[in-house]
Amino acid sequence: MTHHPPKKKDIFDAVIDYVQYLQTEDTASAEVSVERLTAFRQALSSNRSGGGGSAPASGGGLAGVAARVAACRKCPLGQTRTNTVPGQGSATPEIMFVGEGPGADEDAQGLAFVGRAGQLLTKIIAAMGMTRDEVFIGNIVKCRPPGNRVPSPEEMEACLPYLHEQIDLLKPKVIICLGATAVRGLFGGDLPGITKIRGQWRSYQGIDTMPTYHPAFLLRNPPAKRDVWNDMKEVLRKLGRSVPEPKGKD
Ligand code: SF4
Ligand code: URA
Repeated sequence: MTHHPPKKKDIFDAVIDYVQYLQTEDTASAEVSVERLTAFRQALSSNRSGGGGSAPASGGGLAGVAARVAACRKCPLGQTRTNTVPGQGSATPEIMFVGEGPGADEDAQGLAFVGRAGQLLTKIIAAMGMTRDEVFIGNIVKCRPPGNRVPSPEEMEACLPYLHEQIDLLKPKVIICLGATAVRGLFGGDLPGITKIRGQWRSYQGIDTMPTYHPAFLLRNPPAKRDVWNDMKEVLRKLGRSVPEPKGKD
């Protein structure tokens, strides 16, 4: 484990890497927010094995994935997005959360799970005794489906290679699938519905994977929070972590 203290130069490195990469993909200009640049720099600094340079067309660690996603037009969602949402968090997480795809807030900010469902996810993570920075939070598709519709099978298929790359890089001990679309993305369409399979461990390429409800579903169906908490307790036990006492009701 190497930790580089943040250097002033990093922000320039990040911008240069990012823009150079976009140029290799024929994108002449890009809008960049401070938040997205910060997430990009985090990805870069967690992936400094061989110095600077632009992100290559494959590989390049998490930053390479984020840069390729930023320039991606492999499916129609690339035409309507505002920002790509590659996902963010720890580069060495024990837990990786996988949702469906960006909503309006995520599309506006380029960050996963920052809207209402995201705030509930933050509370779930806190109840687990962790922070968002300790986990990785991502999605099946990296661009917002218009009107928040469910991504089509073609869109999911086009985008899944990025998720697979992220899983290979992050090597999480546990993947948590948030909702039916995440399950379908990782395991295909042949499984029973999320109500039937939530709470049951599955293996995704050897990684223990827990399907549970999506936080947006919990916003509409608060009583289901109990099921999700039970599923999260299973995850904590699997990781050998203590199970915090729930603090009051929520
Ligand atoms: Fe590319 Fe995925 Fe965005 Fe489609 S959703 S354009 S595959 S990054
Ligand atoms: N819902 C998702 O599935 N993903 C997000 O990033 C936000 C809401």
